[in-house]
Amino acid sequence: MALCLAFYLLMLKLSFTSAQQLNTLNKACIDGSSYLLQIGVYQDSCPEAEAIIYSWVERALSEDHRLAASLLRLHFHDCFVNASGLQVFQGCGASVLLDDTPSFIGEKTAAPNLNSLRGFEVIDGIKSDLESICPETVSCADILATVARDSVTLVCDVSHFHSPPEECELAVIWSGPGWEVQMGRRDSLTASITAANKNIPGPNSSVATLVTKFQNVDFTLNDMVALSGAHTMGKARCSTFSSRPNVNSNSNSPDINVDFLQSLQQLCSESNSNTTLAHLDLVTPSTFDNQYYVNLISGEGLFSSDQILVTGDDQTREIVESYANNPAIFFEEFKKSMLKMGNLGPLTGEDGETAKTVGLSINFSSSTTPTCNGSVVWAIRFGSFL
Ligand code: HEM
Repeated sequence: MALCLAFYLLMLKLSFTSAQQLNTLNKACIDGSSYLLQIGVYQDSCPEAEAIIYSWVERALSEDHRLAASLLRLHFHDCFVNASGLQVFQGCGASVLLDDTPSFIGEKTAAPNLNSLRGFEVIDGIKSDLESICPETVSCADILATVARDSVTLVCDVSHFHSPPEECELAVIWSGPGWEVQMGRRDSLTASITAANKNIPGPNSSVATLVTKFQNVDFTLNDMVALSGAHTMGKARCSTFSSRPNVNSNSNSPDINVDFLQSLQQLCSESNSNTTLAHLDLVTPSTFDNQYYVNLISGEGLFSSDQILVTGDDQTREIVESYANNPAIFFEEFKKSMLKMGNLGPLTGEDGETAKTVGLSINFSSSTTPTCNGSVVWAIRFGSFL
């Protein structure tokens, strides 16, 4: 009986939510105001939020330096999914964090994400801390956006590490640019594995495919090349670049750096291609700098999708050259494009949730704390709805 009542109220809540979303959508279409993110959104409701997030990122990076790259990538894989959809606005809605349940398939198992995305435990830890000081206030999507910024800013800031990685000590530039994160996102009630597979570009994409995927969300060539500069840090599995052009068949091409390709082939022939990793930027792998673009010019881009920014299109090549020659321009453009990415289809106002509780993600767990992965106690939300 209780279960029937619960089911009935869930249906009621869902239909209420959809109607509400459509109303908000209409309002937003008319006055364009509902989608504005702002700086300082949690100033009164959760003043310590940014400091807590910062210290979590600091601790995470000191334990596993690669997490700077992994956490930045989480934000990209969150925002790029279904951002151009008409009614189901996901974009930067933290849908990437939702776990599968028996009745729901999320985005974690999409091809670009499976056995690849990392850092979920950091986001869960932050959410849990924030819930204890300001319950149901800070959205997981805002956490992702802030963590991405902090990862870039802290990546090789040696003053924050007890024993900084060797690469950081050698670096000329210690850390990446900082920016004010705009907030006020709410969390998506849904996720789409299909959209994740379709929207997130793959490492063998042609320039035309990359351009189309970025244009689909109104991004310019500059945005595309600047954001690709995130590949200045982090690692990739052999399986993602082992289909690079065969060294022997292309050895006469001026665009091919034979030594580089041979070193990759050797690395990947030695062991399991699903676990062996290569640095995305082999020269300064742990720092956030413009070395990625310098590498592209010397034919040392790890993915085909990196290298073709130089070999596949004159316009993207010009942009690469300008970033390779001037790190300050790259930093400026990267900041701008990150802010733009953070604005992809955010749910705001009455849409979505700040705790992953509604709809497909309910799993009837006995926990009483909202999380970013979708598990939350049903009774709490049930109560607040009434
Ligand atoms: C332009 C199209 C892009 C393609 C084709 C692409 C593809 C990939 C692939 C295949 C990997 C390695 C995954 C693995 O081995 O498990 C990777 C890693 C990474 N990507 Fe991208 N990516 C693109 C754009 C971006 C953007 C826009 C960002 C962020 C703003 C980004 C940030 C990263 C980072 C930081 C890593 C390293 C992650 C780690 O070490 O855990 N990528 N990317």
